[in-house]
Amino acid sequence: MKIILFGASGMVGQGVLRECLLDPDVESVLVVVRSPLVQPQGKEKKVRVIIHSDFTNFSAVENLWQGYDACFFCLGVSSFGMSEKDYAHVTKDFTLAAAESLSRSNPNMTFIYVSGTGTDSSERGRVMWARVKGETENRLLQMPFKDAYMFRPGFIQPLHGIRSKTALYRILYLLVGPLSPLLKALFPNFITTTEQVGRAMIKIANQGAPKRLLENRDINAL
Ligand SMILES: NC(=O)c1ccc[n+]([C@@H]2O[C@H](COP(=O)([O-])OP(=O)(O)OC[C@H]3O[C@@H](n4cnc5c(N)ncnc54)[C@H](OP(=O)(O)O)[C@@H]3O)[C@@H](O)[C@H]2O)c1
Repeated sequence: MKIILFGASGMVGQGVLRECLLDPDVESVLVVVRSPLVQPQGKEKKVRVIIHSDFTNFSAVENLWQGYDACFFCLGVSSFGMSEKDYAHVTKDFTLAAAESLSRSNPNMTFIYVSGTGTDSSERGRVMWARVKGETENRLLQMPFKDAYMFRPGFIQPLHGIRSKTALYRILYLLVGPLSPLLKALFPNFITTTEQVGRAMIKIANQGAPKRLLENRDINAL
């Protein structure tokens, strides 16, 4: 399987990249980032990195998408302290620009988007981030991909030395980390890990899944 990965420098994307590199079914990974990525040692042959500057326009690299089986879209930001306009620019505009380019060039691929627990499919709720992610999901589900799946994880525990880029989250993970076995036992439907998210994406790219909106418990079950 050949995979395109967005957000590989982030917490979720690092976890997904790790699983792709470990999985013998994944033949290669095309990583699209805005700045140079520290390449995982010993796995260089499996990864090709594209540094791209304008995430609203992928026409210059659109010919590269052909031959890939799936795109794992892990790029995204926390809405904390952001205006709706700025949050939507990264969350919705970047995602849809990439997805439009990918589906135009290679409609035969599977697209997997990371949104989050509480995403608002009605697009009318009071929570800004949930509305924006809901609109993004709805638009993605209408695009002519072979298959599209929306991942809605709750709290993602970073494993294997992976760290969040967001300082606030790093502090949170530091505090919550030791409690995670207890929290997992208490809230199994709200907590997942970077490893489970990556494994679930690879499994879906290989075999598909019975539903297109995957909540935290569905991700863990996969
Ligand atoms: N962390 C969680 O527990 C959790 C839970 C549920 C859902 N999610 C969702 O998962 C997604 C990823 O979260 P994360 O925790 O991995 O975030 P993160 O660690 O902050 O990583 C964000 C990723 O997005 C890229 N990015 C951000 N702004 C960009 C921009 N303006 N242009 C190009 N690339 C940009 C970053 O690239 P640079 O390295 O270049 O900045 C990085 O690769 C988000 O949509 C988030 O809502 C996360």
